[in-house]
Amino acid sequence: MKRILVTGALGQIGSELITKLRKEYGADNVIATDIRTADSEVVHGGPFEILDVTDAAQMNELVSKYKVDTMMHMAALLSARAEENPQLAWHLNMGGLVNGLEAAREHHLQFFTPSSIGAFGPDTPKHGTPQDTIQRPTTMYGVNKVSGELLCDYYFTRFGVDTRGVRFPGLISYVTPPGGGTTDYAVEIYYEALKTGKYTSYIDKGTYMDMMYMPDALQAIVDLMEADPAKLKHRNAFNVTAMSIEPEMVAAEIKKHIPSFEISYQPDPVRQAIADSWPDAIDASASKAEWGFKAEYDLATMTADMLQKLKTGIPQ
Ligand code: SER
Repeated sequence: MKRILVTGALGQIGSELITKLRKEYGADNVIATDIRTADSEVVHGGPFEILDVTDAAQMNELVSKYKVDTMMHMAALLSARAEENPQLAWHLNMGGLVNGLEAAREHHLQFFTPSSIGAFGPDTPKHGTPQDTIQRPTTMYGVNKVSGELLCDYYFTRFGVDTRGVRFPGLISYVTPPGGGTTDYAVEIYYEALKTGKYTSYIDKGTYMDMMYMPDALQAIVDLMEADPAKLKHRNAFNVTAMSIEPEMVAAEIKKHIPSFEISYQPDPVRQAIADSWPDAIDASASKAEWGFKAEYDLATMTADMLQKLKTGIPQ
């Protein structure tokens, strides 16, 4: 991993991933790409190119131009957005992935793309969800993610492409808000706590989902990509998680810092149904055993850090 092209670089994960990679691998060795541009550090802090991931020719040109050896493919629609426009989700999520994998095959790239807890469905065991288990998701996002997991495995076994990936839980961060995900409540709640002192959750009380703080998610990507391939029994779709939480737990933790904080509930039927179809708590033991995955932050330390960073308006 010496020269890395990242797609979806202005998205929730991409924008912080770029900063971390540029620090660790050198600013010139990290090529940020996105379908749009912005006045941000991602664009000004190193090479940046406009890239529509559904355009294979353009993607190949950039891979050649910058002589990259690694692609991190982050461009995708999240679960709730995908449910609003399933056809677009298939086109972007699958079309982009196939183009990325083909570029990786042709140019011998190491390849990372994230799957998600959204790759599971209502028939999946809800507690201690194993690494290898029944999936059968009922959302378009989940269909995309399962297909992507299988496709990445296929490119490894059939073409020898060094594909690697994790199943991310909901990711919580203070830099770039997620857009159109089911787990977004766990980000919004911190912004609203500081802004208005209250939050109306579109996810109902008692709905458990896995979550992780962004620094742990970024470290997981780097650790998996740097892991000794001889130790990997799986390649893609490693379960990773730091906490299994429901909205009331986040609210209780925020109250320790802002005692007057209040949460209320107004479940959104679409996102609630998606959340109900996902596991409560997944098991990350395969990641721990095969490449030493470890999350540093729990709900308490994450909450303290989120509130402090948001309050001081930490620049990216
Ligand atoms: N955070 C994502 C979503 O809610 C799950 O991968 O869509």
